[in-house]
Amino acid sequence: MKIIAYGIRADEKPFLDKWSEENSDVEVISTGKLLDETTVDQAKGADGVVTYQQKPYTADVLDKLGRFGIKYLSLRNVGFDNVDVDAAKRNNIRVTNVPAYSPQAIAEFTVTQLMRLLRRTNTFDRKMANGDLRWAPDIADELNQMTVGVYATGRIGRAAIQIYKGFGAKVIAYDIYHNPELEKEGIYVDTPAELYAKADVISLHAPATKENEHMLDDAAFAQMKTGIYILNPARGILIDTDALIRALDSGKVAGAAIDTYEDEVGIFNSDFGSFDKIPDERLKNLLKRENVLVSPHIAFYTKRAVHNMVYYAMDANKSLIKTGKSDKLVDL
Ligand code: COI
Repeated sequence: MKIIAYGIRADEKPFLDKWSEENSDVEVISTGKLLDETTVDQAKGADGVVTYQQKPYTADVLDKLGRFGIKYLSLRNVGFDNVDVDAAKRNNIRVTNVPAYSPQAIAEFTVTQLMRLLRRTNTFDRKMANGDLRWAPDIADELNQMTVGVYATGRIGRAAIQIYKGFGAKVIAYDIYHNPELEKEGIYVDTPAELYAKADVISLHAPATKENEHMLDDAAFAQMKTGIYILNPARGILIDTDALIRALDSGKVAGAAIDTYEDEVGIFNSDFGSFDKIPDERLKNLLKRENVLVSPHIAFYTKRAVHNMVYYAMDANKSLIKTGKSDKLVDL
């Protein structure tokens, strides 16, 4: 049995090597390169492919995997919005993801960023670096006095809710699907508009779907309280960046923590050598603001999460090859 793992980073390699040692019945080939038209030929002869990347898994690539007789594609991450669904289906390629490598990693980072916004740490860091050790005018807000509106109560949303509650915040939530436990607590509101109107903080934990694209646009910001805080550790496409910039300019949004950005592919997790060389003016606009925390999609990036991403994806791919079954199949 042979599995090829694409896009293996240096921080993943030790986990892959350990998995390989523990699964001596599997021949594991790995490459640092991403799975695309220029590298897909390396998969010839493999029984399954394990991969993670943010750029698309295109029809050309999936057609080629199909021609090589490869039927199993296991992603090391949650989101599968970059898979060409029609091509996967016509080639009978079954796709697995890792739905829960560490929801807590993302939840903890989200709340960390909110606390940084509320306590104005960015502003104080910049002031202190210039020898300004005064308090005013950068007085903080307290989370325990606030209402947090959680958009989507999947695993990550629920992990975030636990932490918000630990801080003593009031939590309300919106989701099409209601979690029975949260339902009992009565935290759900009926519409996104109600969430926007009642919350002091919007914490986004929704997947990227056609319906969710630019869900936070001018109209959504207009429904929110002035001074709202926006957190997006989920998917860049959820926020219309131009609308966010307008809402920051007008003071409608008091602060935003953006771990995902709609044009992040090819930009995040790259080194441009200096701020000026970052090839995206809108991103630089956001990065320059004291009340905006931009981070390069790192909420997931913990040792536990990376370990689980490698292990769960490799396990899923092996299971598909051996038995045709996996509990991590995604519904394309
Ligand atoms: C996902 O798992 O879908 C993520 O967003 C994290 C990714 C950057 C590895």
